[in-house]
Amino acid sequence: MQISYHGHSIVKIVTGGKTILIDPFINGNKLTDLKAEEEKPDVILLTHGHNDHVGDTVAIAKACDALVVAPNELANYLALDGVKTHGMNIGGSWEFDFGTVKFTKAFHSSSYTTENNEFIYTGMPAGILFTAEGKTIYHAGDTSLFGDMELIGKRHPIDVAFLPIGDNFTMGPEDAAYAVELLQPKLAVPIHFNTFPPIEQDPEDFKKLVTENEVKIMAVGDVIEL
Ligand code: NI
Ligand code: MN
Repeated sequence: MQISYHGHSIVKIVTGGKTILIDPFINGNKLTDLKAEEEKPDVILLTHGHNDHVGDTVAIAKACDALVVAPNELANYLALDGVKTHGMNIGGSWEFDFGTVKFTKAFHSSSYTTENNEFIYTGMPAGILFTAEGKTIYHAGDTSLFGDMELIGKRHPIDVAFLPIGDNFTMGPEDAAYAVELLQPKLAVPIHFNTFPPIEQDPEDFKKLVTENEVKIMAVGDVIEL
């Protein structure tokens, strides 16, 4: 399995000949190395409806017929655009041909803002547990710190946890470091920082605060082989 980071909350996983893209916010993301028109994923996983996570989902999914797996209301909304979707909700898991997806809770909000500045309700925000090849990846989405992270880590031993550290909209470095203690992943990777002024952070601050677990600060384009 190959896992790569592409700025903000974008994570790409390649497993069993399939490519999975999480939260493909490409246009408007000053940090990313991806180009929306070059991405041909088999699957797009979305944590919630905010525009900095849905990003280029519709254009990419329409261009390459990718399946979009998202919280149910968000999936239903995107399906109106003719996108192939699979809606899920918190606590539910589903075994796909590319791996198993389970939606976990995230304390955040979730709506999509259209070009006409309409606010669309897109259901509950979520985190995602993705399991394939016997490895489990946790993408926390946007969230505060919450005690049930301990439960998530106990129920599903985590190989790699992608955790927001930007503060203001999500956990900051200190809370994210505490989240690592609760989740006990083999490896923690900071995400969702430095994209916009309110979330500017030095990821080294997060790394210094994590004393018991391994942290990898992934540069944009870095790849982990599991
Ligand atoms: Ni958000
Ligand atoms: Mn966000």
